[in-house]
Amino acid sequence: MDDYSAYRDAECAALYDAVNAGRDDAAFWLTMAREASGGPLLDIGCGTGRVLLPLARAGYEIHGIDLSAPMLARAQAKLAAEPPEVRERVRLLEADMASFDLGRRFAAVFSTFGGFHHLRTVDEQLACLGACRAHLRTRGQLVLDLVNADPAPLPDLPGAEPADGEPTAELAVWTEGRRVRSWMDTLAYHREQQLAECRMTYEIIAPDGHTRRLSETFPLRYVFRFELEHLLARAGFGLVALYGDYDLSPLADDSPVLLAVAARSD
Ligand SMILES: C[S@@+](CC[C@H](N)C(=O)[O-])C[C@H]1O[C@@H](n2cnc3c(N)ncnc32)[C@H](O)[C@@H]1O
Repeated sequence: MDDYSAYRDAECAALYDAVNAGRDDAAFWLTMAREASGGPLLDIGCGTGRVLLPLARAGYEIHGIDLSAPMLARAQAKLAAEPPEVRERVRLLEADMASFDLGRRFAAVFSTFGGFHHLRTVDEQLACLGACRAHLRTRGQLVLDLVNADPAPLPDLPGAEPADGEPTAELAVWTEGRRVRSWMDTLAYHREQQLAECRMTYEIIAPDGHTRRLSETFPLRYVFRFELEHLLARAGFGLVALYGDYDLSPLADDSPVLLAVAARSD
């Protein structure tokens, strides 16, 4: 991917962690790790290590790759504060999830919190799935965490910019006396490519009420349930399970996420 433009800002990487600290996916990934017969694990698009670090703390050897230097730098800084036995379990590398060669195989590959949506073409998606397959042991599992997208043009996610001055409760976080709120909105939707032009905005509110905004825009490609099944089959995977939420509930119309567990079909 030569014109990658997302997650370019170190401050956004820190804010990303602040606003996503309460995300409820940790137990799901621990369950997926347990099913991977002890590891080692690979997290593609690991970002700031939000999921990777708790897995390392839980005893799993885990490698993480990401294209964003600021996100990886934050992961590295957080890792440096961990005890030596946790640090030893982790490897972080700047690499493209659509073309990587780590020279070893893993018990499971994870793509957490929608990272796969950053792949904008079928060629990139298949290249990524092929690379994941090549890095999996026989019967190794790939787990993808995707948005359960509506085929209609997407609404703003996770909500439009609030009209009043008060941060929405679920997104507001206090950091060093500053409040932070974030929202993502869709600026344009290109149906023929299944691409949404998304803008992520962080608003930082100082104790004296002064506000400052930081925004990043990037395209996200939405993937639908049966399209995903076809993609996985083309890449040599068989579907093992589909879930609609992190509590392992079945996929339904109104499920917030599409969680796919697939295994190498050989
Ligand atoms: C929504 S964030 C998810 C981060 C992390 N997985 C989590 O759960 O918090 C998406 C991440 O995917 C990374 N990313 C996007 N495209 C990528 C690519 N082609 N190769 C590797 N990483 C990529 C971004 O830099 C970003 O860190």
